[in-house]
Amino acid sequence: MADVTVIGTGYVGLIQGVCLADVGHDVTCVDIDEAKIEMLRAGKSPIFEPGLEELLAKTIASGRITFATPDDGWADLLGDIVFVAVGTPQADNGAADLRFVRSVTSAIAAEATHPFTLVMKSTVPPGTGHALIRRTLADAPVDIAYVSNPEFLREGKALEDWYRTDRIVIGSDTPDAAEAVSALYEAVDAPRVITDIASAETIKYASNAFLSTKISFINEIANLCDVIGADIDAVSHGIGMDTRIGPDFLRAGIGYGGSCFPKDTRALDFIATINGYEFSLLKSVIEVNNRQRLLPVIALVRALPHLHERTIAVLGLAFKPDTDDVRESPAVDIVPLLVEEGCSVKVYDPIAAEVEIPGATRCATVWEALDGVSAAVVITEWGEFATLDWERAAGMMTSPAVVFDGRNCLDPSKVEAAGLSYMAVGRPGAHRTGRSG
Ligand code: UDX
Repeated sequence: MADVTVIGTGYVGLIQGVCLADVGHDVTCVDIDEAKIEMLRAGKSPIFEPGLEELLAKTIASGRITFATPDDGWADLLGDIVFVAVGTPQADNGAADLRFVRSVTSAIAAEATHPFTLVMKSTVPPGTGHALIRRTLADAPVDIAYVSNPEFLREGKALEDWYRTDRIVIGSDTPDAAEAVSALYEAVDAPRVITDIASAETIKYASNAFLSTKISFINEIANLCDVIGADIDAVSHGIGMDTRIGPDFLRAGIGYGGSCFPKDTRALDFIATINGYEFSLLKSVIEVNNRQRLLPVIALVRALPHLHERTIAVLGLAFKPDTDDVRESPAVDIVPLLVEEGCSVKVYDPIAAEVEIPGATRCATVWEALDGVSAAVVITEWGEFATLDWERAAGMMTSPAVVFDGRNCLDPSKVEAAGLSYMAVGRPGAHRTGRSG
């Protein structure tokens, strides 16, 4: 079993560290955030992810995982295989901000006292690996092999995805290092894609860009369904049955959010542009997604006269269910737009309870949120909303009230049977979202 270090205990690093410890490796997780390290030592997960805290407790008890800060000295913290899993946030120009990746790489390269393999887990644009080798690793006092090993974990399903991934991508110019990284995942029964560094980096971005394209494509078809009176549920089902297309990522709605798709599509567009390539399809994917999240606001402006005098409930803040993550969630754009229109806005999310959205009133229950409102906008397809008692909701909302189902996750007949106007994205019915005449 290998001696592994994981630098960065954010979403990617923590899952990687805990899972590698679970399959038997000795893992040291390092983070500059002391409070986080203390929390992890106490067995508490800083993020909400189903099953993670249990696995954390199990691996801590087994003695195979420990937590440290860089103050303990890099020389003692570096194992034979060192994963870099620090954040690559979006810079103002849309590029990936590689500040943390560069500073960590420089620090470990300068202080290492034995040869090791550096494995890049952070999402870095194509070309980054070779630049790091050229500018930093080549001058290190010890031999450092470089491997790109991108992650494909979905939030909310990260553990499941780690153990049952479709593929493990490993890019390196050093075959022995690639082999050693592949061996770390011996317990995972998945095909390996062993390739060069730039191709591995590109596979990560191209995967996210393709999935984003699928979502923007189905959203455009849904908008068309609204205009021509077709039913997006039937259309998605019908096209998804073609095995060349596949049924996944064909759920229409108010678009993709989260920490990956918006950031990675913009970063890929930036990389294309800076290299002199006009990636027009990708630009359209981004534009469609930006527009899609405006649909609830456009629909409410059209459906409700005197919108500025009304109170609106925003149901769901997380960018998708089973996570408390609100990064790039449509809610973050929609709430301020409604506030700007002059509405009073009440927000409710079953898990993302700590997030403050300026201008909105936070509610502890869905019923508190629905009390006295003219409209409810469903942003996140939480199970609680899909099974909601709409008769009870209608009794609390002011009449005539509207429900905008931004995720096509409600049963329209139940909402309408309660006397509420139902609006969605590409679903037929009496109440269209109003884009056509
Ligand atoms: C994604 C990728 O799936 C994962 O491989 C990558 O490593 C990180 O980014 P994640 O951001 O957790 O994972 O979410 P995912 O489940 O892929 O959904 C992303 C967004 O797309 C969500 O906002 C979701 O609501 C939206 N989506 C997804 C749709 O609008 N329609 C769909 O059919 C599928």
